[in-house]
Amino acid sequence: MVKHAIGSYGAEVWGITDSFNGLMTQPLGVERLRLESVTDILERGGTILGTTNSGNPYAFKEGGKICDKSQLVFDGYKQLGLDAIIVIGGDGTQTIAGEFAKRGLNMVGIPKTIDNDQAATDTSVGFQTAVDVAADALGRLKSTAESHDRVMVLEIMGRDAGHIALHAGIASGSNIILIPEIPFDYAPIIKKIEERRKLGRYFSLVAVAEGAIEKGSGLKSLAESQAVFKTKHLGGIGGQVAERLAELTGSETRLTVLGHVQRGGSPCPFDRVLASQMGVHAVDLVMKNQFGVVAGIRGGQLTETSYDKLINVSAPVRLDSHLIRTAEAIGICLGRDYDFTLPVD
Ligand code: F6P
Repeated sequence: MVKHAIGSYGAEVWGITDSFNGLMTQPLGVERLRLESVTDILERGGTILGTTNSGNPYAFKEGGKICDKSQLVFDGYKQLGLDAIIVIGGDGTQTIAGEFAKRGLNMVGIPKTIDNDQAATDTSVGFQTAVDVAADALGRLKSTAESHDRVMVLEIMGRDAGHIALHAGIASGSNIILIPEIPFDYAPIIKKIEERRKLGRYFSLVAVAEGAIEKGSGLKSLAESQAVFKTKHLGGIGGQVAERLAELTGSETRLTVLGHVQRGGSPCPFDRVLASQMGVHAVDLVMKNQFGVVAGIRGGQLTETSYDKLINVSAPVRLDSHLIRTAEAIGICLGRDYDFTLPVD
């Protein structure tokens, strides 16, 4: 992005530190980005600019109160003489950017989240790396599962979307995958574990998305379950599943919570390419004065979607997706009875 903006267009590029916070402080939290500023960052995880997930300028937490500090962003934008901001982030960040776009700032978004739940793109930057890490972890857990005849449960991030768990689960040959989009029952899971035992497979590998929900629990989302169970952080379902499976099957079970491991480290080559493509596309959009849009990739083609079309639209795993069918068709239990009927076209 920086290389294209400077090299192709001769643009002046500034990095804003700690997300929108950098525009809300005095002196401004910004740094001039030059070609050498981005040397060797392709293979690095994280961000050279810092970030925050609690810096919404419209609902800024300060001294125990919530205040609207959005005007400071307008002031900072003007003070720096910006023509546009390229906003890299997940749905929370893009919702804030969309609000600024609506109120007149020139914004172009780049979807970046491991959760892959952004409607502007088929794949967001970071997702594939998280899948690789989770699939690798599941593969490693399989060794202990197999040698000790255990049920090994891995809790995987993703908030209210099961993309990472579903992809990593399939890639690692997991036997059971639980995702938020399909509230699960224990009965088919137990059936699966027992069927495997009859075949002499005394272990099972279970991938649980942190947003997975038991059917009949009355909970509809991770946020709702956090409120009910008064938990501060996301996750916890993996532990419940591991305990219940131990009770219900008599198997020795173990839980691993992958946590932020899947969000760090060097990005995989796919993500490096995707980030480069999205960055170049975002710069081109800015240079064409095409603002108020989020860059994306659909069917291999670079796209842009207006912020207006993305308000309150998330992209969970579609129940009619071929990936769901693929998982069940190859014998993976998704926490429900599998009905093998061909989909009607
Ligand atoms: O939204 C990205 C994500 O990594 C989720 O998958 C995860 O639940 C959450 O962020 C963790 O947030 P935090 O780093 O604030 O604990």
